[in-house]
Formats: sequence, C-alpha cells, structure tokens
Amino acid sequence: MEILNGKETAKTIKEEIALMVKKRKSEGKKIPHLAAILIGSDGGSMTYINNKLKSCEECGFESTLMRYDDSISEETLLNKINSLNEDKSIDGFIVQLPLPPHIDEMKITLAIDPMKDVDGFHPMNLGKMALNLPCFISATPSGIIELLIRNNIKTAGKKCVIIGRSNIVGMPLSILLSQNANPGNCTVTLAHSQTQNLKEICLTADILIAAIGQPEFVTAEMVKDGAIVIDVGTTRIDDASKVNGWRLAGDVKFDEVAPKCSYISPVPGGVGPMTVASLMMNTLKAMELKGK
Ligand code: GUN
Repeated sequence: MEILNGKETAKTIKEEIALMVKKRKSEGKKIPHLAAILIGSDGGSMTYINNKLKSCEECGFESTLMRYDDSISEETLLNKINSLNEDKSIDGFIVQLPLPPHIDEMKITLAIDPMKDVDGFHPMNLGKMALNLPCFISATPSGIIELLIRNNIKTAGKKCVIIGRSNIVGMPLSILLSQNANPGNCTVTLAHSQTQNLKEICLTADILIAAIGQPEFVTAEMVKDGAIVIDVGTTRIDDASKVNGWRLAGDVKFDEVAPKCSYISPVPGGVGPMTVASLMMNTLKAMELKGK
C-alpha cells in the first residue's frame, strides 16, 4: 500500500509556481494577484481561507482578503463582486462557501467574471469543462487529477466509483474521469444518497472516491483488494486529546481500509493541500490568459 502524499505533492507544485513567479518578477512582469471574499466567521471557512492566503505567500502571489459580516446584503455582495470583476490588478478571486442562507449562492456565482473564476464554479467554466475545452476546473477535482498524474496512476479502462454528487467535487470529477483524456477513460459510477446496494457498487471499484462529508463512512467491507482510494472528506470532529478540541476526519475509515488498498490518500495531508495548490495553478493561469 502506498500513501498518496498530497501535502508533499502540493509543496512541490507550489515550489514550481514560486520559481515561475520569481522569474517573472526579475523580468519586471506582473505577479499573480488572488482576492478572497470571506463572509462570517465559520471556523472551517476561516481555516481554508488562511491556508489559501498562506499558499499565495509561498507562491510569491499578491493576495487580498475581503471580510464581511454575516449580515451583508446580497446587493452589497454583488457590488463587491462587480468591483473585483472590474479591478485590473486582480487576476482571479473566490467567494468562500458556504454563504449565509439569505444569499443566493447561484446568483453570486453567476456574477463572477468567468475569466476571473479561479474556483471554476461558474456555469461557463463547468460547461466548457464538460466539453473538454480550455477553462478553469474547480480546485478539488483538478487537485485529485494532478495527484493521480504525479503518482503515475493509470486510470484508462478502470472502474471508478464516486460517492457524492456535489457541484464542486463529485459531479465535475465524474465528468473528468469519464472523458477521453489522461487521466480519464474510466467507467464512472456516480453514487449518491438515493443509490441502492452502495456496498456492492463500491466493491466493484478499481478507484473509489469518497466525497460525501460523512466521517469514516467507507469501511473495509466496501473496498476491493488492491483498490485506489481517494478521500475527499474533511469534517471537523470533537477530539478531547487535541489542543484545539477537534481533528479533521475523512470519509474513509483509514486504519481498516488502508491495508486493502494499492494507494490511499490520507486526511489530513491528501486531497486538501492539493485543492489549494490547484487554486494557485488556476490563479497563475488566470493571469497568463490575460497575456500579462
Ligand atoms: N467551500 C468549500 N470548498 C470550497 C472551495 O473550493 N471554494 C470556495 N470558494 N468555497 C469552498
């Protein structure tokens, strides 16, 4: 069994980006600038945003954090998005999800200029992705694809089961892995809350991807011997033995599943850091696309 070390791989990617940025800087060229909008003070969102800003620093990017209270109106937020769309110094920006219930997530996503949508959430980018056209691919699916590439994992002809059909992970990943591409060319099953015989379906998977946000949902009896298991879950659960009182739990019961796998991604240190590295790659690309 081999560990898919997302932390190390992400570090390598960020070092590669930092070298490119350093070269641009020495040539007097523009350096990438990412902005992030954070609403409210949800602990998970703040951790994600801090990781993204720290990664910007590691890559030599400029970054701007715009924080607003939970009470911000939809109209004010739409105005902030418009000003980021117009701001020529900003190459890409993200609006950290989830949003407060009074704000319509789709309305916000639609307001983002697709050329600055480094999260790849805009329907224009999702549609282009489905057609295998150049676009921004959302960070978690593209982080998983990059993890497969950098570990030389061959996917063609394999049976892939993805658990979870979210717009930002399961759904786009099911499209990417079924495309005529490398990685890709898998036979994909997208399982969800209404799926029957989930255990039997998972047992057919050469590649099993868990993206449901239910800690330790995938157990050893659901995994075929030699399978490749990718764990996208990152749920905070109480843990009195930790200084902060919590730890991150994946969707996979790692200790019992790992011995059955050929490869497995851990939590933390697997998909999470790759997601952030992909966001950095998208931001660099956003700047390059503008011909800067
Ligand atoms: N919330 C959870 N994951 C993400 C992400 O990748 N991007 C944004 N903007 N919000 C998130």
